[in-house]
Amino acid sequence: MSASVRLEAITQSFARRGRRRAALSGVSLDIEAGEFVTVVGPSGCGKSTLLDLVAGHTRPQRGSVTVDGVAVSGPGPERMIVFQEHALFPWLSVQANVEFGLRSAGVDPASRAGTAHAWIARVGLADAAHLHPHELSGGMRQRAALARALALAPQVLLMDEPFSALDAPSRDRLHVELQDLWRETGTTIIFVTHNVREAVVLGDRVIVMSSGPGRIMGEVSVTLPRPRVVESGRVVDLAQQVRGLLDEADQMGIAAPREGQDGYVTI
Ligand SMILES: Nc1ncnc2c1ncn2[C@@H]1O[C@H](COP(=O)(O)OP(=O)(O)OP(=O)(O)O)[C@@H](O)[C@H]1O
Ligand SMILES: [Mg+2]
Repeated sequence: MSASVRLEAITQSFARRGRRRAALSGVSLDIEAGEFVTVVGPSGCGKSTLLDLVAGHTRPQRGSVTVDGVAVSGPGPERMIVFQEHALFPWLSVQANVEFGLRSAGVDPASRAGTAHAWIARVGLADAAHLHPHELSGGMRQRAALARALALAPQVLLMDEPFSALDAPSRDRLHVELQDLWRETGTTIIFVTHNVREAVVLGDRVIVMSSGPGRIMGEVSVTLPRPRVVESGRVVDLAQQVRGLLDEADQMGIAAPREGQDGYVTI
């Protein structure tokens, strides 16, 4: 199951010390149903804000967010988010964590245990279903968080630097597995990362953002066959292109208005 996502002319600002500062300015992005899009950009350019808008945790101040043509009006199980910090309940086992997600989404009690276990097995945690989060490695926790999200069969999966706290071998394995899961489920994925090679390995397109305020600088399309691996020469070449855009984005950030100048509006 998948859905298209459209962000249209989003401008989003936050109040800080009595002033409103734009976090996103005129951001428009069209994502096809079933597409895997990765997003990179300097810290503070509004990547998480963008995911929050699609998740429905934040309402757009200007512009619109639609999923399959329907305006997003709040969170829902069809749009799940996986964070860098797994956000599992520490007092529940992996099995109970995944079942909790299903219960919140109103899934029939008779099928919860089976669905939860199938997803736990699918992410390679069958033997760890009875363990609590503190008994898991970082990679296992992210797998559990992924199972909890995917168990709800989301049309859109939002991922905010989900693998950035992991060691390289765990991350590489999860890259391959996430590509498999994406192919099997067909879900639309928007994946935010600071790791340019990761963005190229995973994405059909890499969206590059700039800061001050957050805008879309450009994008690099990736048509390499999957599964891709970070060491591949063609991944490295495309990552270089993305880095070029990020360097431009950095220059824009330096040139961006400082407090008291344009871009800052006193409220
Ligand atoms: N709830 C909030 N209240 C006030 N300011 C916020 C809030 N959320 C985000 N911001 C501001 O909006 C801007 C964008 O933040 P956001 O977290 O979306 O950036 P990011 O690209 O995800 O950064 P990072 O790469 O560090 O995760 C930042 O200047 C941040 O301080
Ligand atoms: Mg962020």
